[in-house]
Amino acid sequence: MTPIQLYLLGKNNGFRPVWIMRQAGRYLPEFRKIRKKNKNFIKLCLNKNLVPKITLQPLERFKLDAAIIFSDILMLPYALGQDVQFEKNLGPILGDLNIKEIKNITNKDFSMKLKPVYDSVKIVSKSRLLVNKDLIGFAGSPWTILLYMMNKSSPKNKLSSKFLEDKILIKETLDLLCNFTKLHIHNQIKNGATIIQLFDSWAGLVKNNYLEEYVFKQNKKIVDFVKRLNVPVICFPKGIKNYYDFVKYVKPNVISIDYNTNPKKILKKINIPIQGGINPKLLLGSKKKLKKEVEKYIEIFKNYPYIFNLGHGILPETKPLMVEYFINLIKQK
Ligand code: CP3
Repeated sequence: MTPIQLYLLGKNNGFRPVWIMRQAGRYLPEFRKIRKKNKNFIKLCLNKNLVPKITLQPLERFKLDAAIIFSDILMLPYALGQDVQFEKNLGPILGDLNIKEIKNITNKDFSMKLKPVYDSVKIVSKSRLLVNKDLIGFAGSPWTILLYMMNKSSPKNKLSSKFLEDKILIKETLDLLCNFTKLHIHNQIKNGATIIQLFDSWAGLVKNNYLEEYVFKQNKKIVDFVKRLNVPVICFPKGIKNYYDFVKYVKPNVISIDYNTNPKKILKKINIPIQGGINPKLLLGSKKKLKKEVEKYIEIFKNYPYIFNLGHGILPETKPLMVEYFINLIKQK
């Protein structure tokens, strides 16, 4: 077992695990160099030479306890035949969606299309940099994937609410996506992923009366599936108001909190390991403020299983030296 896995079982007291959401990415000059020569992002995610290299770049620099496979949650719509493009400043732009065609896609078709991703997982899992460390596999939760597939762009740009009216279509599609998500996760585990994180980045957009159906139920099905494979699963239902209800219903191994969540308050209500919460903007500011915040988290979680991480992805304008400073603060005792 890895140090994080032991720690989650309450056995590695005093250990302070840390990894960073989006740790492989644009704030690293060595990533930007590769990205500049590889304009097609999906193609880059399918490149078996470059993906392992990019995944391990942050581990070459920092004392991180885990790698997260360099990929994207939108590899799922891509594998289901929807066009996915990443446009500068706009984020992802998706093509037309044909649900009838998706119904004809077999598990084998799906797995073949993403085989390079799974090959990369295997390559990374054997790296010398990952000895006694975790490799995090991940997926988007069905609601967040459905939102991108139907809205065809980030809800940050625009949110077309028309598709939200067809409740039967939504339910049917969520179930369909849930099954492919399980397959995608299973393939990553079979190839060496030792922890799974589920990103429900747009859970916060769901109205209260649909939360159980669209968010809780779908996350639970996947969590139950991953638990049966004996792999810890972290849930990140970003933006939901009530983490307590989510945890009670879904029962993940770890709950990842966003930067609007008060860590002290959540600790009083929840009885499973917690991850994240630190505002990514703090890595853009002064060292003094960052130090204060890290010390606050160390104090709050001194007797509680906690994985250091941010409350959302690291910002592209972050200086790698600040990341090093951040990790050193956590690791020095
Ligand atoms: O280091 C890692 O964390 C692993 C790689 C990773 C990426 N995307 C690479 C990426 C992970 C875990 C993701 C998850 C992801 N992707 C989420 C969930 C987490 C979250 O941020 O809420 C979501 C919603 C996406 C969809 C997505 N992919 C968006 C909205 C964008 C564009 C805007 C942005 O945030 O970058 C992407 C592109 C993307 N995914 C990049 C990277 C490194 C940037 C690509 C580039 O322009 O170079």
